[in-house]
Amino acid sequence: MELSNNTILITGGTSGFGYEFASRLIALGNTVIITGRSVQKLQETKQKLPAVHIIQSDVSKPDDIIKLHEQVITQFPNLNILINNAGEMRKLILHENHTPDDITREIEINLMGPIRMVQQFLPHLKKQKSAAIMNVTSGIALMPFPISPVYGASKSGLRSYTKSLRVQLKHTNVKVFDLVAPGSSTPLNEKFMDSKDFNSSLVVTPEKIIEAAIKGLQKDKYEIYPGLAKVMHVMSRLAPGFLLSQAAKMGAEEMAGK
Ligand SMILES: NC(=O)c1ccc[n+]([C@@H]2O[C@H](COP(=O)([O-])OP(=O)(O)OC[C@H]3O[C@@H](n4cnc5c(N)ncnc54)[C@H](OP(=O)(O)O)[C@@H]3O)[C@@H](O)[C@H]2O)c1
Repeated sequence: MELSNNTILITGGTSGFGYEFASRLIALGNTVIITGRSVQKLQETKQKLPAVHIIQSDVSKPDDIIKLHEQVITQFPNLNILINNAGEMRKLILHENHTPDDITREIEINLMGPIRMVQQFLPHLKKQKSAAIMNVTSGIALMPFPISPVYGASKSGLRSYTKSLRVQLKHTNVKVFDLVAPGSSTPLNEKFMDSKDFNSSLVVTPEKIIEAAIKGLQKDKYEIYPGLAKVMHVMSRLAPGFLLSQAAKMGAEEMAGK
């Protein structure tokens, strides 16, 4: 699709992929609105990227989504692209205590968030001449990642939902993209970097991933697999057991409850 003169809403645009998307898409001549929970991070982002529009909104809160929708379609009636990017990834040891609320946090942000955002914004997107939804999944949607068990479940759920959404929107003007991102050096990953099992050579910069995402959008490549994600995609079909055994090495002692 044409990637200029669009109005684009990106959830979670204050760091990592969201920030990189915002900065690249503004440079390409688009109007960009970003969200995030922290007002301070939004204001700091606005200082770095003066052209960006900022709105505080938590994607795990249904009321915030309803308010965000009202505000965005009033202020930016030409909105035609939604990028569901906001996400959280935790290391979760299931031997430890977690409240029922806490244990499902990634499902609420990474899976329920995009599903609710799509449902809220779809009627508006369908009215636009050309529109798109991009969901940011992960290489971890292609394989379980035992040290982050709920994150893995949220991303494979989001991938499944995205495929169904694409089928249901096939005869509309709304294109549905899945960015299957590999590991990247963003704040999301900081908590894993000091682990002795973390292989930093497998992690690429957000710039490289967003470069591939933008090319994918421009070429209507509905499933985008930058770098290592391509290998993971093939391996997830040919040798899923091998992939799981490799992923299970990360944090093996902690997961054994030692
Ligand atoms: N980095 C990787 O290795 C990697 C790999 C594959 C996929 N991904 C996916 O890529 C997406 C972006 O990740 P990233 O690495 O760029 O992470 P990041 O640098 O930690 O950025 C996350 C962004 O989302 C916002 N956010 C978090 N929870 C939110 C919520 N409930 N409501 C609204 N905004 C929220 C954060 O701001 P606030 O904290 O202020 O809300 C921040 O702007 C995520 O979906 C992640 O799962 C990342």
